[in-house]
Amino acid sequence: MLENPRIALVGPGAIGTTIAAALHEVGRTPTVCGRTAHPQLILRHDEGRIVVPGPVLTDPADIKQPFDLVFVAVKTTQLDDSAAWLAALCDENTVVCALQNGVEQKTQFAPYVSGATVLPSVVWFPAQREPDASVWLRGKPRLTLPDTPETSRVLAALQGTRCEVDLSADFLSVAWRKLLQNAVAGLMVLTGRRAGMFRRADISELALVYLRECLAVARAEGATLSDDVPQEIVNHFQRYPIDLGTSILADRQAGRPMEWDIRNGVVQRYGRKQGIATPLSDLIVPLLAAGSDGPG
Ligand SMILES: NC(=O)c1ccc[n+]([C@@H]2O[C@H](COP(=O)([O-])OP(=O)(O)OC[C@H]3O[C@@H](n4cnc5c(N)ncnc54)[C@H](OP(=O)(O)O)[C@@H]3O)[C@@H](O)[C@H]2O)c1
Repeated sequence: MLENPRIALVGPGAIGTTIAAALHEVGRTPTVCGRTAHPQLILRHDEGRIVVPGPVLTDPADIKQPFDLVFVAVKTTQLDDSAAWLAALCDENTVVCALQNGVEQKTQFAPYVSGATVLPSVVWFPAQREPDASVWLRGKPRLTLPDTPETSRVLAALQGTRCEVDLSADFLSVAWRKLLQNAVAGLMVLTGRRAGMFRRADISELALVYLRECLAVARAEGATLSDDVPQEIVNHFQRYPIDLGTSILADRQAGRPMEWDIRNGVVQRYGRKQGIATPLSDLIVPLLAAGSDGPG
C-alpha cells in the first residue's frame, strides 16, 4: 500500500468534479487535468458546497512524472483527445480508474495508458454541470468496482470520503445491468422527452422489448441477470421525477457528440458477434448515431 499516493483526475466535469471534491474534503486533493481552464472547481450538494482549489491544468507538458492513481471522467467520446494526458500521467505502475459508462473500459483505455492497470467502475450517482461550470450533485455518490487486488489503491483513496465504494465479485453482471439502464435511457433522445415518458403504456412496452433484447446479449457475454431485470428497470424509470433527464439527452440537446456507441451500439455489436438478432438496436442505433454525428 502506498502511503501518500499521487492522485490525478482527468475530466473535471459532472462526475470528475464530484470525485475531486470528495477527495479534497479529506485532504487528498488530486491534480486536476482538463480541457478548459478554471481557477477552481465548485460542487453543490444538499448540505452546501465544496470548492476544490485549482487551477485546472490544461497542458499535459505540466506533468513531469507519472502518477500512482489516475481517475478519468472524460466522456468516452473525448478519450482520443485525452491521449496526451494519459501518456503523461501513466506508466506500468499506475492504476487508472475509469469513471465512465459502458462495459468496454479496459479495451478502450489500453492503447493510451502505457501498460497501467485499468479498473472499470459503475458510476451510480447523477450529477449535472450548470451554466456557470459548477456541478450540482443530485444523489449520494457511489461507485461499484471489481473486487481485484489493484482496487485497493482506489479504495484507500476514497476511504472516509462522501463517495461510497462497493466491490463486486461479479462486476461484469453489475456493469451490464447498468448498461441496460443506459441503453433504454437512449430512447429519451429519440423523443426529446425526460423520464416521464416511461409512464406511457406504449413507451414502457417498447422499453421492455428493447431491454429483453439487451438482456439476451448481456447474458451471452456472461452476465448473470434475471428475467425480471427489464421490468425492474422500467419500474425505476416510471418512479423517477418526470423531469429527470439523462446525460445522453443533455448532450443531444446541447448539440454535443453522444455516447451512443458505448451505451447502445455495444448491444448491436456484441449481438452480431454472438449471432443474436437485435432488430430494435438495428433501428435505434443508426438514429442515435446520425443524431450525434450527422452529416446534415
Ligand atoms: N453525469 C452523470 O450524471 C453521469 C452518471 C453516470 C455516469 N456518467 C458517465 O460519466 C462519464 C463522464 O460524464 P460527465 O457527465 O461527468 O461528463 P462532463 O460533465 O461532460 O465532463 C467531461 C469533462 O471532461 C473534460 N474534457 C473533455 N475533453 C477533455 C480532454 N481532451 N482533456 C481533459 N479533459 C477533457 C470536459 O471539459 P470541458 O469543461 O472543456 O467540457 C469536462 O470537464 C461519461 O461516461 C458519462 O456517461 C455520467
